[in-house]
Amino acid sequence: MSKNITRDLTEVLQTEQKKYYPSKKILKNANVPDYEKTLKTANKDTVKFWEKAAEDLIWFKKWNKVLDKKNKPFYKWFVGGKCNLAYNALDRHIEEGKGNKLAIIWEDETGKTKKYTYQALYEEVNKMANALRGIGIKKGDRVAIYMPNIPEIAISMLACLKIGAMHSVVYAGFSAGALEGRIKDARAKILITADGSFRRGKIIDLKKIADEAVKKCKTIKKVIVVKNNQAKIKFNKRRDIWFHDFIKDQSIETKLTKMDAEDPAFVLYTSGTTSKPKGVVHVHGGYSVGVLRTIKWVFDLKGDEIFWCTADPGWITGHSYIIYGPLMAGVTTVMYEGVPDIPTPDRVWKIIEKYNVNVFYTAPTLIRAMMRYGLKWPKKHKMKSLRILGSVGEPINPEAWKWFYNHVGKRRCPIMDTWWQTETGMNMITPLPSAPLKAGSACKPFPGIIADVVDKNGKKVPAGKGGYLIIKNQWPSMIRTIYRNPKRYKKTYWSQVKNAYFTGDVAFKDSDGYFWIQGRTDDVLKIAGHRIGTAEVESAFVSHKSVVEAGVIGIPDNIKGEVIKAFVILKKNVKGTEALKKTLKKLVRKTLGPIAVIADIEFVEKLPKTRSGKIMRRVLKAKELGLPLGDTSSLV
Ligand code: WT7
Repeated sequence: MSKNITRDLTEVLQTEQKKYYPSKKILKNANVPDYEKTLKTANKDTVKFWEKAAEDLIWFKKWNKVLDKKNKPFYKWFVGGKCNLAYNALDRHIEEGKGNKLAIIWEDETGKTKKYTYQALYEEVNKMANALRGIGIKKGDRVAIYMPNIPEIAISMLACLKIGAMHSVVYAGFSAGALEGRIKDARAKILITADGSFRRGKIIDLKKIADEAVKKCKTIKKVIVVKNNQAKIKFNKRRDIWFHDFIKDQSIETKLTKMDAEDPAFVLYTSGTTSKPKGVVHVHGGYSVGVLRTIKWVFDLKGDEIFWCTADPGWITGHSYIIYGPLMAGVTTVMYEGVPDIPTPDRVWKIIEKYNVNVFYTAPTLIRAMMRYGLKWPKKHKMKSLRILGSVGEPINPEAWKWFYNHVGKRRCPIMDTWWQTETGMNMITPLPSAPLKAGSACKPFPGIIADVVDKNGKKVPAGKGGYLIIKNQWPSMIRTIYRNPKRYKKTYWSQVKNAYFTGDVAFKDSDGYFWIQGRTDDVLKIAGHRIGTAEVESAFVSHKSVVEAGVIGIPDNIKGEVIKAFVILKKNVKGTEALKKTLKKLVRKTLGPIAVIADIEFVEKLPKTRSGKIMRRVLKAKELGLPLGDTSSLV
């Protein structure tokens, strides 16, 4: 069991038991007014609960079996049902006469804005769908998408789904190497990207990175390029085409492909314990059901909200709660392409006031960064439109929770601390607005989800004791497999604890049954809420000719949650200079992208290892932080 480094368990138990109750106003309006009763009813028969939830969507053909467990752990949901995720996010609203409603409000760092009604979005998506069909993309094909947070990313994703192609979105902060690996694994046929993006006033030359990646990808036949920030780019006339030219003469109507509930909708790569990222596969039917039900209940949506999730579409949070969730719920989603403190540290609060944002869903790292700028900035803004707040990506420390509650929500807005994963597709452990909250706890599992904290043998541990967080039932938006690697799917998630989904997180439950997430048990780091594998970072180090071996750990950071410290063994006769440290930092950044923040490098002679040769990162970490070493019986 990994040690609890980021927060002290006993301290949490002693000080954070205060409950924050919802106001009368919140309770009166809540979609789920009776929290405990709803949990109880749902959990009596979770399959029935999810079947009922599926009725919120439009199906072309009803399912004949809700949950098929025959070939476990390859579970199937809504078997025999026909639907399409994009249909439920778009066409449905047009058919219901809501075409004039705003679907997307977009703003970039420079202050440029664009708005799309559902009708306008629908037409753009259809044009794109037709254009994709026109170049031969068909059901089951993979389309790689490498784009900033701009409306065209939503248009491209939805267009893929309409024709039954799978998208594979790669976060635009990833490097050429990371993009190349993901394109190759998915065997994507085309890439959709942009000329560039703004960040802190600087131009990020996305197309150049994309070119470098595609050079080595034989499967890519065409590169479609959005003109986003007019950056000067190289154009390969035979291969590249501007997005606006690509869709120019297309019809605004298209034939929607009716999908089986279990047909894959997309693949999204995420880091695991080995250096190769896992392609997490989600499907049309169950994913839609889980995402729609959670967004409606957790964020209390009635259908006329302005919803702002500050994630990037390149992560699952963006897939589920910037694009598909808000659109399925028929609300307006805000997309902001830029950093939160430009031109002043109240940019975020300004956006909330400018667009009357009702639900604001963000990450602890952003909250902590804002805390550092001081109260002056949120105090300038009343943010009266806010009703519900949300947090996701990593544990939120009680201090940040209280700051968010007091100074952003002005004590009116409950905070939904949502624990979930790329693999779960939807919020899993989270309060609902009617639940009593505790600062720093993700509260209880969502209705229809049975979670627990257990030891290595799958035995429940008593309240207040740390253990492995597992999910004991199945849920509709669960990962179906790892793309082209079903063995790894089975091994990673379903072989650790018998008959349960293994989350890879450690947690404890308090005596009220509230969950407190502690962090990862495996070799996955969380930097500013972004997931990155130690093995990925280490292999980047080792790719340098002077490096023999490297071991990396996450060390606590006041804003990013974790940053990387690396222990590096150099080749004999190579001097460990400051210049070499700089070169190595640059190399890692180039290999993995700017999310892999290396705080420190230490040159060492040896690394602590197990008899079988595995680096004991736990020992490195304990030493670094001055903590007890724990069980070192396997150390050589
Ligand atoms: C890991 C999943 C889907 C959310 C975005 C990240 C950590 C996520 C919380 C939270 C404590 C959290 C876990 C989890 N995590 N949300 N509210 N409290 N930890 O998705 O990249 O797949 O990462 O993020 O460690 O396993 P992801």
